Amino acid sequence: MKRKPFLAGNWKMNLDRKSGVELVRALRDGVGGVGDRDIAVFPPFVYLDEIVRAAAGSNVRVGAQNLCDEKNGAFTGEVSAEMLRDVGVTHVLVGHSERRHLFGEGDELCNRKVVRGLAGGLHVILCVGETLDERDGARTEQVIGRQLTKGLAGVDAGSLERITIAYEPVWAIGTGRNATPAQAGEAHRYLRGVLSGLYDERAANSIRIQYGGSVKPDNVATLMAVPDVDGALVGGAALKADSFLAIVRYN
Ligand code: 13P
Repeated sequence: MKRKPFLAGNWKMNLDRKSGVELVRALRDGVGGVGDRDIAVFPPFVYLDEIVRAAAGSNVRVGAQNLCDEKNGAFTGEVSAEMLRDVGVTHVLVGHSERRHLFGEGDELCNRKVVRGLAGGLHVILCVGETLDERDGARTEQVIGRQLTKGLAGVDAGSLERITIAYEPVWAIGTGRNATPAQAGEAHRYLRGVLSGLYDERAANSIRIQYGGSVKPDNVATLMAVPDVDGALVGGAALKADSFLAIVRYN
C-alpha cells in the first residue's frame, strides 16, 4: 500500500517575518495543482500567526516546531497546544533531534508532548533518530525503537491518524550526508515493525514515516521511491521556494 506522501519543511531558527511570508506565498502559488501530497511548513513560533494567514486557502499546512507538555498555567516562556490551535496551527513537531540533543529533551518529556499535542487537537510528527556513535555501535534499532515506543506510550489506536513518524538520523541532519535509500529503508521497515507490535499491522501500514536529513531536490525522488519512505522532513532545502517546491513536486 502506498501512503499519501507528506513533504514538510522545518525552518528551525531561520528566516524573518518578511522572508517567511514571501516563502509561504511562493509555496502557496507553486503548489496549487499538487493535490496528491500533503505539504506543511514549520516556522518559528512568533511568525506562526502571520504564516497561517499567508497560507490560508491553500493546501500548505502550518505547524509548530515545539509545544509545552502542560495545558496552561505558570510555565514562563512556553506555548501550549491550545494556543497553537487558536492561531490556526494544525501540526507540531515533537522530539526533533535538536530538541533532544541541544535542549535535553528525553523520551518521557517527548511522550508528554505527544499526548498533549493530540489532546489539543494537533497532528503530531514524532521524530526519532540515532547518533553516529549509536549507528557505529550497532545500536540504531535499539535507539529508534525505544524513542518510538516511549514516545507513543498511552497513545490509543484511535489517535494514530494524527500521528506521523519522522526518521531523522542525527548524523545526516545539516551535514549534506543523507542516509542511503538502503539505510533509510532498513530503519523505516524496522520502525513499521515496531508500530505493528505496538498496535497491529493495519495501523502500522497506515502511519506515514518521513525521512529527514539532508533531503535535497536531487535525492528526494530516490528516497521517496523506497517502499517504507512516505515523506520527507526537510531543513536547509526548505528555506528557499525553488528548492522546497522542487522537493514537493518530485516524481
Ligand atoms: P537538513 O535537511 O538541513 O539536514 O535538516 C533536517 C531536519 O532536521 C529537518 O527537521
